[in-house]
Amino acid sequence: MTMNEATPSADPNAGKTPLVEMRDISIAFGGIKAVDHASTDLYPGEVVGLLGHNGAGKSTLIKILSGAYARDHGTIMVDGKEATITNPRQAKDYGIETIYQTLALADNVDAAANLYLGRELLTRWGTLDDAAMEAETRKVMGRLNPNFKRFKDPVKQLSGGQRQSVAIARAIHFNARILIMDEPTAALGPAETEQVGQLIHELKKDGIGIFLISHDIHDVFDLADRVVVMKNGAIVGSAKTTDVTKDEVLGMIILGKCPAGAIPGPGALAD
Ligand SMILES: Nc1ncnc2c1ncn2[C@@H]1O[C@H](COP(=O)(O)OP(=O)(O)OP(=O)(O)O)[C@@H](O)[C@H]1O
Ligand SMILES: [Mg+2]
Repeated sequence: MTMNEATPSADPNAGKTPLVEMRDISIAFGGIKAVDHASTDLYPGEVVGLLGHNGAGKSTLIKILSGAYARDHGTIMVDGKEATITNPRQAKDYGIETIYQTLALADNVDAAANLYLGRELLTRWGTLDDAAMEAETRKVMGRLNPNFKRFKDPVKQLSGGQRQSVAIARAIHFNARILIMDEPTAALGPAETEQVGQLIHELKKDGIGIFLISHDIHDVFDLADRVVVMKNGAIVGSAKTTDVTKDEVLGMIILGKCPAGAIPGPGALAD
C-alpha cells in the first residue's frame, strides 16, 4: 500500500479505549430530527471540535451526553462500558461536566465560593470553612491558571477569561474527565481566548477529554486534535485537523461534502 496524503492518516488512538463513545444517537423534537443517527467518540487527552451551522444539532448532541435531554435512540459508552445517562446527576457521576457559554457563575461571590457552590465545605461547628475552600481553590487554580490572583474579588469583577477559568476549575475540581465546552470563547476578546487555549492545553496534559463546540473554525483548528462536522442532525464526517484544510472543513459544514482526508458519516453528501 502506498501512503497518500489525501486519505486519513494512521489513527493515534488505535487500540485505546475511548473515554466516551456515542453510538447511533437520535432525538426528535416534534417532527424535527435534531440529531439523526449520530456516532462519535473522544479519547483521553483529546480535544474534539464539534462544528456545524446554526441548528445542525451540536448542542443537542452534547446535551444528550450531559443528561440534559433524554435520547430517543442510541447508546453511550464510558470507558468502554455502557453508561446509564438519563439526567445531569448521572452524567456528573461519570465525570462528565459541561461549561455553558453563560458559565452559570454566582456573580456576587468570589472564586472559592463559586467552586464550592452547592457543595460547600463546613467546619466541625457547621459553619462555612472559608479558609479551607480558599486554600483548595488556590491549589486548583495554581495548576490551571498560575496567573490568577484575584481570589478575594467577586467573579463579576473578573474578565471573561478569568471567569472561564473559575468555571473550568469548578468542573475539574469535582473530577471531570470529560469536559464539554459549548462556545467557550464566543464572548471573549483575543487575549482571553488565548487564555482559554492555555487552559485547554493544561487539561489535555491531565488526560481530560474535551468536546469543544465553536463557530470559529480558526479556534477549532488551533485547539482541536480532531473535528467532527454535523449538518441537519447528521454527522458529515470526522478528520484529524492535520489531515484536512480549513477550506475542506468549510465544505463539510456548508455543503456536507466530505474530503478525502476525512472519514465520512451518514450525513455526507453522496458523490
Ligand atoms: N428544546 C428544543 N425543542 C425543540 N426544538 C429544539 C430544541 N432544542 C433544539 N431544537 C431544534 O433542534 C435542532 C438542533 O438544534 P441545536 O441547538 O442542537 O443546534 P446547534 O448546532 O447547537 O446550533 P447553534 O450553532 O445555533 O447553537 C434545531 O432545529 C433546533 O431548532
Ligand atoms: Mg448550539
